[in-house]
Amino acid sequence: MIVTIDGPAGAGKSTVARSLAARLGCQFLDTGAMYRAVALAAMRADVDWEDQQGLVRLVDALQIRLAGDQVQLDGEDVSQAIRTPEIGSVIHHVADHPGIRERLIRMQRAAVEGRSAVTEGRDQGTLAFPDAACKIFLTASPPERARRRQRDLAERGQTVALETVLAQQQERDRRDREREVGCLQQAPDAIEVITDGMSQLEVVQRLVEVVHTASGNQDGAERL
Ligand code: DC
Repeated sequence: MIVTIDGPAGAGKSTVARSLAARLGCQFLDTGAMYRAVALAAMRADVDWEDQQGLVRLVDALQIRLAGDQVQLDGEDVSQAIRTPEIGSVIHHVADHPGIRERLIRMQRAAVEGRSAVTEGRDQGTLAFPDAACKIFLTASPPERARRRQRDLAERGQTVALETVLAQQQERDRRDREREVGCLQQAPDAIEVITDGMSQLEVVQRLVEVVHTASGNQDGAERL
């Protein structure tokens, strides 16, 4: 069974999606990490962002592996290197590229072939896994998302004003929603979960219920 979780940046998707996969005893696919890994590889190779063909050649030659909590690029652990502000500022070149999206979707399908998985991103329920048995659209109000992001940054020693975080978030949302291919969109058959005021544990619990309802499994067993 495939469970897709889509939603805007800052909705807390990654953490809860990972916990949900652990609770269900299935694979977790962090598709944002794949886009980030491509951005890192392109930066390192100094590929011109305008060189659409060059970017495609780069992706075709890459080995991206999501192994547990690790993201590997050609065998190297890049889990930390892909989560920098620098990557954040160039990632739209990768996410906006239809050819890269097509290839990453192919990799995503291959990565979970024949298995149960929780996959997380922006286009999982719409494009990558349109036949998924359970689709979740996870979101929270803009102020709540910004406050969470501000808290995460503070935990990493970065003090950023809430207005700045909100402005950056608006820009990210705009890019995610206006992308020509693979834009952030709720699938018509996705269940929306709004997480304002909920703890992470409460969100995971709610998602477990949604999955059980979708799978017709009402007996409380957590494994898919
Ligand atoms: O979820 P994240 O912040 O790690 O995602 C990184 C970037 O990749 C973000 O700009 C949105 C984009 N993305 C995407 O376009 N499609 C996905 N399935 C996952 C992420």
